[in-house]
Amino acid sequence: MRLEDCLNTDYLIIGSGIAGLYTAICLAASGRVAVLSKQDLVAGNTWFAQGGIAAAFSAEDSPKLHLEDTWKAGACFGDRISVGVLVEEAPFRIQDLLDMGINFDRRNGALDLGQEGAHSRKRILHIGGDATGKELVEALLLRAKSKGVFFIEDAFASDLILDQGRCRGVKFIKGKRVFSIQARAVILATGGCGQIFQCTTNAPAVTGDGLAIAFQAGAVLKDLEFFQFHPTVFFPPQGSPFLISEAVRGEGARLVNRQGEYFMELVHPRGELGPRDVVARAILAEQKRTGAQVYLDMRHLGLSFARERFPTIYSRCLEWGLDISRNLIPVSPAAHYLIGGIEVDLNGRTGVENLFAVGETASTGVHGSNRLASNSLLEGLVFGRRVAMAAAGIQPEERDHRLPGQSLAIGHSSVDKATFHALRETLQKLMWKHAGLIRDASGLETAREQILKWWPAANHAYFDVEFAETSNMLLIAAMMVEAAFARQESRGCHYRQDYPDPDLELGHGHLVFQKPVQSPDNSAAAEYPRAVFR
Ligand code: FAD
Ligand code: SIN
Repeated sequence: MRLEDCLNTDYLIIGSGIAGLYTAICLAASGRVAVLSKQDLVAGNTWFAQGGIAAAFSAEDSPKLHLEDTWKAGACFGDRISVGVLVEEAPFRIQDLLDMGINFDRRNGALDLGQEGAHSRKRILHIGGDATGKELVEALLLRAKSKGVFFIEDAFASDLILDQGRCRGVKFIKGKRVFSIQARAVILATGGCGQIFQCTTNAPAVTGDGLAIAFQAGAVLKDLEFFQFHPTVFFPPQGSPFLISEAVRGEGARLVNRQGEYFMELVHPRGELGPRDVVARAILAEQKRTGAQVYLDMRHLGLSFARERFPTIYSRCLEWGLDISRNLIPVSPAAHYLIGGIEVDLNGRTGVENLFAVGETASTGVHGSNRLASNSLLEGLVFGRRVAMAAAGIQPEERDHRLPGQSLAIGHSSVDKATFHALRETLQKLMWKHAGLIRDASGLETAREQILKWWPAANHAYFDVEFAETSNMLLIAAMMVEAAFARQESRGCHYRQDYPDPDLELGHGHLVFQKPVQSPDNSAAAEYPRAVFR
């Protein structure tokens, strides 16, 4: 099918990670479905997922236990009803995947359930050892294509098309052209925003675009101060940081300092399998105390186990000259997962009519203030199906013939590309240093002052992908800094060293952002965002 023939569709999904693909599969029987991805179809974070998907699937487990673990890891902050939906529907969504022929790993014929931090039971299903994300994306892509879903690659969604407050479609940049695609429902499945930090496990495509375009259209963004840092990331001599899955610790790997001493059991009763924020901060503290690296030690697990259970990690580390069955793995925390996002109801509806959000970009409340490991892929499945059911009920509208199908991109800006490239890198460093794992008022103030200086440059209507991404990153960074500033307490993964304890009163509120008045040109965020407690 030609692109021009798809500029009017029934359902438009932005993003081809687990959330976008699963929603597309569930919607395919209800009408024409088009999926946009800003790069190729494997560009998001899903492809890199290692540990697996959590679900109460064994005789010793139950959705109730899964709920309690999720709730406790989230520091009792999220939405217990949403958590209930997540854990109750989890086994059914896993069964859907099994019915599709997805081969989760088995041991002696039974599903091989892994262990991860803060789970009281073994409940992590995985594929290809530690290649869960890649295997899932490949299988879901095949399935979606076989159901007639139309994919548009290298298509960067830049703005939503609004008509009297209703979402009618999306503008996207492809090559040197800007296209308008109309749909009765638009579903943002654009992932998180890990790229706003210098050190991150996230894929390069994960720049917070969906959050920014939803905000510009009037949707509410929520809980942006809650950003999770993964404790065990390997920083190779060249290339991007590489995750060493929590499942490695689940199989018995231990954290040691330079002297070979274990230190986690002094910090948390569950030791290495304590909540992520606790383990991440303990690593930083141990690095500071000893003035040296911290390592993961899995040598006792042996070569054949390392190779069979963690083939991706084993082979990638070997490419960097590190044999994980014989050497210690130097690890340090890195930005990993956005817990907050676009506020949605239990069916993924945002506050903008006909606009839905699902996956990491959405804030369903299931992760509280700290996500339980392997609940994210699950969220994409559970809420993907719910979004599909709700979107299927939206009535088709007449095509708006006033909108041109395509036009030439606008190619001028007062800021050149090199400046923008430099701005992105400086922003990433700034956020890592001042709004990272450990925060305080003075660092956040520094970040705010710098972002305010860049603010005018970022707010131009200019159709260029790198420009748009960087503007989006700046907007989300500004909101994250404002929310982190306003939450004068420590809770879950938001840690303020100047307010190291939780504050009971603040624990009842959420920080939200909403664009005050819809400007006629919804492509620019002129006003600096303000956090409101709700
Ligand atoms: P993504 O998979 O990130 O996909 C986003 C999509 O949106 C991409 O297709 C991208 O191209 C597209 N997109 C973005 N912006 C635009 C735009 N402007 N225009 C067009 N397209 C756009 N979670 C678990 O539960 N278990 C795990 O084992 C696990 N391991 C992880 C390992 C790593 C290294 C990382 C980084 C994360 C891991 N997570 C894990 C988290 C989990 O992988 C992600 O939260 C989840 O995959 C997000 O899925 P998604 O579909 O919401 O977004
Ligand atoms: C991991 O494998 O450690 C990542 C799991 C997750 O982010 O849920």
